[in-house]
Amino acid sequence: MLKGKIIGGDFELESIPSGLSEQDVFQTYGVSGTWTTSGRAALAVILQHLINHGVDHVHLPAYLCGSILLPIKELGLTYSFYRVDHELAAHPESIEGSAVILIHYFGWLNKSTARIREEAVHGSFHLIEDTTHAFLSDWQISSAKSNLVFMTPRKFGPVPLGGWCSVDTAVGVPSQETEAMVWRSIASRLVRGLFLDKRFVSSDVDMETFYLQALRAVESFLDHHPTDIGLPQIAFDIIVGLNWDDIAKRRRANWRCLHDLLDGQVNAILKTLPEDVVPLGYVINLQGRDRLRARLASHRIFCPVHWTLPNEVDPQMFPEAALLSNTCMTIPIDQRYDTDDMVRIAEVIKSEL
Ligand SMILES: Cc1ncc(COP(=O)(O)O)c(C=O)c1O
Repeated sequence: MLKGKIIGGDFELESIPSGLSEQDVFQTYGVSGTWTTSGRAALAVILQHLINHGVDHVHLPAYLCGSILLPIKELGLTYSFYRVDHELAAHPESIEGSAVILIHYFGWLNKSTARIREEAVHGSFHLIEDTTHAFLSDWQISSAKSNLVFMTPRKFGPVPLGGWCSVDTAVGVPSQETEAMVWRSIASRLVRGLFLDKRFVSSDVDMETFYLQALRAVESFLDHHPTDIGLPQIAFDIIVGLNWDDIAKRRRANWRCLHDLLDGQVNAILKTLPEDVVPLGYVINLQGRDRLRARLASHRIFCPVHWTLPNEVDPQMFPEAALLSNTCMTIPIDQRYDTDDMVRIAEVIKSEL
């Protein structure tokens, strides 16, 4: 039995956004930097730059997306993890000559940022800031020119491929395989757009299988090419053709709406929305996470988990990261949804608690 429209899942396309928008696309912090195929590949550019300066070790937060380990391994760097507390604040050690990655989770500036930036300026490590979740948030990344920043816009909209980092490097033309992948990603998002359009329900199983498999193939390609740079023009055109101002406004409005509707009945890990934050999602944590997530899925509301920790992170050593991983889920509040959708999500959550 169908229970309302599907909420969550990969970003679909109804058409291909075209034409450069007038808007100031998004923050590239006043530097030209390098566009790449993914966040992983953008990190790889920074790491290669640091390897050239003698760095051989990367210090990472224990609460992270496992895909960022791929370029580190591919480039033969050693790595270690540091503690992230229950408020998502980072607690790295100051390891001489290392690169320290700082993640700004879910759109909010990491609480430890000022201290870690200060330590990086006066200490002996290189700070790399991952602004993937915060690339539409308005706060200044750093006044320090030497800052290393990377991100991908792929988590905030129907971006087929794309990543960016603040290090300039020479980029060749995209490989034929990359060109093929970008079209595969675009085609699968267009098919998902048709799948979500009620007029095409008769063939929905085939359509769903098609786009799910195609999007999986694109992710697998990125996993196997974590140092691939060279972004096809069509991907860049889509990135600059999306209306990011509107996306930012809708996400903020939906977050606020859901927060009010839930009225403290679930524990939001980030409880206030500062003026300058554009959220990735509405992140809650609870002991019965998997049960509530399954119940929401039965109502066709799909909530991702950020993140299942990679095997490399020992949960005994990092119990706070393990707890976040086991109890958090991210409720969609993105630009595809409106107040009615937030009302439906809140009603289902309240009825299933
Ligand atoms: C915070 C963060 N940084 C980086 C990445 C890697 O981005 P990509 O999938 O484009 O390689 C992810 C992936 O989910 C992420 O969540």
